[in-house]
Amino acid sequence: MARHLITSAIPYINGIKHLGNLVGSQLPADLFARYQRARGHEVLFLCATDEHGTPAELAAAKAGKPVAEYCAEMHEVQAKIAEGFRLSFDHFGRSSSPQNQKLTQHFAGQLADNGLIREVSETQIYSHADGRFLPDRYIEGTCPNCGFESARGDQCDNCTKQLDPTDLINPYSTISGSTDLEERETKHLYLRQSEMREKLGEWIDSKHDWPVLTTSIAKKWLNDGDGLQDRGITRDLDWGVPVKKGDADWPGMEGKVFYVWFDAPVEYIACAQEWVDAGKCEDWARWWRTDKGAEDVTYTQFMGKDNVPFHTLSFPVTIFGSGEPWKLVDYIKSFNYLNYDGGQFSTSRGRGVFMDQALEILPADYW
Ligand code: MF3
Ligand code: ZN
Repeated sequence: MARHLITSAIPYINGIKHLGNLVGSQLPADLFARYQRARGHEVLFLCATDEHGTPAELAAAKAGKPVAEYCAEMHEVQAKIAEGFRLSFDHFGRSSSPQNQKLTQHFAGQLADNGLIREVSETQIYSHADGRFLPDRYIEGTCPNCGFESARGDQCDNCTKQLDPTDLINPYSTISGSTDLEERETKHLYLRQSEMREKLGEWIDSKHDWPVLTTSIAKKWLNDGDGLQDRGITRDLDWGVPVKKGDADWPGMEGKVFYVWFDAPVEYIACAQEWVDAGKCEDWARWWRTDKGAEDVTYTQFMGKDNVPFHTLSFPVTIFGSGEPWKLVDYIKSFNYLNYDGGQFSTSRGRGVFMDQALEILPADYW
């Protein structure tokens, strides 16, 4: 009997997912989990809600609720819908869990001890109209790489280039539409991804059986010169994992939180701890620690193509950089976007069929 660890990209908490999200991660992951179980193998299939960052804050504000309360409610909503689709997760966790907070702070401490974090004073975009620093996704403008006019500050949806908001041409706040933006000085932690370019390159090159969609995106960002830039992993926000070095305070980082893309993939591991703490099983380490039995686990991740750089580069840097024997992914299955009526599904524009509506129209198995 082989052992299969399977994760689906963890959906953002802010709103009900559309069928495009389902088809690009949870559904194929579920099929794979069912298939491996049917073959008699031992399977641990995990998913969770991705609860930090400004999307959650803004959605909560819009709903008129404290963000923690909003997330707790939306987690339940998403869990119910997942059940409606009979997605066979062994556990559906939460990236805001105490387990994930602790583990994220632990990884940051390890990375710092191993010289992979540097402190950077930088200018960030402050919006007078909104009264806050604007996180990357809430600044839009023209992509410096391809000229797409509504590129987000973290990534261009057109050419998938990872961006910094200050790269954008003619930026504006998507919260208020305001162009009254100011660059302000603030201190942040940077993950020194660039130190690991060679190691990541060798690792990706050794994966001859990976889908071309996965390796082509990974190699593009690895070899494009600026692809593997050091990335800021902290933010000036209230909602998130407080910046700490393991259990210790991090001088100068008071009041800051880790960037949502730093703590979200760590939830793949923390979710297994939540699963144990929920009394569903006794041991998570035999799935996640190669020094505790996970060396014979096959780990497969499922995701949409926009998630690929984070799973092939950033998260492996966290894992490699920890210097600890965490289980690394064996196979990354990625998907192109499912289109709806000739265009993209869109949560923000309410375009497409959403998972709750789909279940009202027809039973899960039909979909
Ligand atoms: N929430 C992200 C999305 O929907 C996926 C996060 S995957 C993880 O695109 F690796 F960060 F967990
Ligand atoms: Zn672009």
